[in-house]
Amino acid sequence: MRVLFLSPAYPPEMIDYTRGLAEVGATVFAVGDTPRAALPARVKPYIHDYMQVPRIMDEDDVIARATRWLRGKTIDRVLSNWEPLVILAARIRERWGVPGMSVDAVTGFRDKQLMKERVAAAGLRVPRSRRVFTERDTRAAAEEIGFPLIIKPIAGAGSADTYKVESRAELDATLVKMRNVGEASCEEFIEGEEYTYDTLSIGGTPAYENIARYLPKPLEMRSVERVSPIIITVRDMSQPRLRGGIELGRRVLKALGMGDGFTHMEWFLTPKGEAVFGEIGCRPGGAHLVDQMNYTSDIDLFREWARVACFQQFRATAPRKYNASIIFKRAQGEGTITRIEGLEEWVSACGDAVVEDRLLRPGTPRRNWKHTLLSDGHVLVRHPDWNETHRMSVAAAQNIQMFAE
Ligand SMILES: Nc1ncnc2c1ncn2[C@@H]1O[C@H](COP(=O)(O)OP(=O)(O)OP(=O)(O)O)[C@@H](O)[C@H]1O
Ligand SMILES: [Mg+2]
Repeated sequence: MRVLFLSPAYPPEMIDYTRGLAEVGATVFAVGDTPRAALPARVKPYIHDYMQVPRIMDEDDVIARATRWLRGKTIDRVLSNWEPLVILAARIRERWGVPGMSVDAVTGFRDKQLMKERVAAAGLRVPRSRRVFTERDTRAAAEEIGFPLIIKPIAGAGSADTYKVESRAELDATLVKMRNVGEASCEEFIEGEEYTYDTLSIGGTPAYENIARYLPKPLEMRSVERVSPIIITVRDMSQPRLRGGIELGRRVLKALGMGDGFTHMEWFLTPKGEAVFGEIGCRPGGAHLVDQMNYTSDIDLFREWARVACFQQFRATAPRKYNASIIFKRAQGEGTITRIEGLEEWVSACGDAVVEDRLLRPGTPRRNWKHTLLSDGHVLVRHPDWNETHRMSVAAAQNIQMFAE
């Protein structure tokens, strides 16, 4: 099994997927824009051969270079687990005649308007929405959809340029802020709780499923600095209130023609108990969500993904043992972390439930919380009981404080 894997060391969790590929016996050819000498030592043993390209996002250039580089070799899979590169991987597959999801299928997981149209065509509940290009389009769409509404880029990520708009006056102000966005989606605002529905699928049928709860909603996580975002995987997926979301997720995979690999969907649970589609990608969730799933079930989904992608097999047993919660922290003040308060007390109160402490230590520069949900680091706890997990998470959010100067 010879695999071309795009961007094997960035973002950093790609190193684990590269490891997974090597561990299931694949020969890994990798392409990225990191200089060969700067590849982390940890990833090197898993890579058979590497080509550095000047710009990994320049699809035509990467396709031309990779085609020259691997001419005469048989490549069995072309894979990427990073959202900006999933279309590129599909284009290379089509160009070389390698099996896997087509450009058209992958586009259904990438274009936020197209995905909603395809999901709605399958009879599933999505927010009413319009694709808009100009201010005029947006005003017309707003009149049709009504307030409150959401405006967001078609190919967005990390809630960048995503706004809740409550009135015509707010719409005017938002349009000014969005002048740099070419193509946007204008949609009905859905009230309710927000969850993920994640899978590792074979031919569009989940071999592994997961649900996680966002606290607070992602838009708030990304727009209010003083919150400590919490994401908790839900151990008990059999509870009736989640049934609609799981059913929705499974049907979305069919509607969009999912193939083999990870999916990461977001959905809303309305106060009336209805599950409404949010968005989906045909790649794993970021911000350590795969680590959380691994802690939930005591498995190695990095390796199982590789087995699925290469051989369409999933071998792990995956009991749901824990709710696994990640709590991201943001320091008060700018510059360099100077001190952390409340950590020791929290760790000793939670005991064995704490599985990771990766808060940035004093002397480290702060990360930009607007650019990355990882913020100034995280702690991760797991517990079989939801209320206990929630309680420890809220305690970490409230009682651990970081400072910077
Ligand atoms: N129709 C909607 N109704 C209510 N809230 C919405 C809606 N669309 C988006 N949001 C809010 O904005 C957030 C970001 O939107 P979305 O997930 O579509 O974009 P994104 O930038 O790809 O997100 P991310 O990369 O953070 O997952 C959602 O998680 C949700 O909190
Ligand atoms: Mg999202």
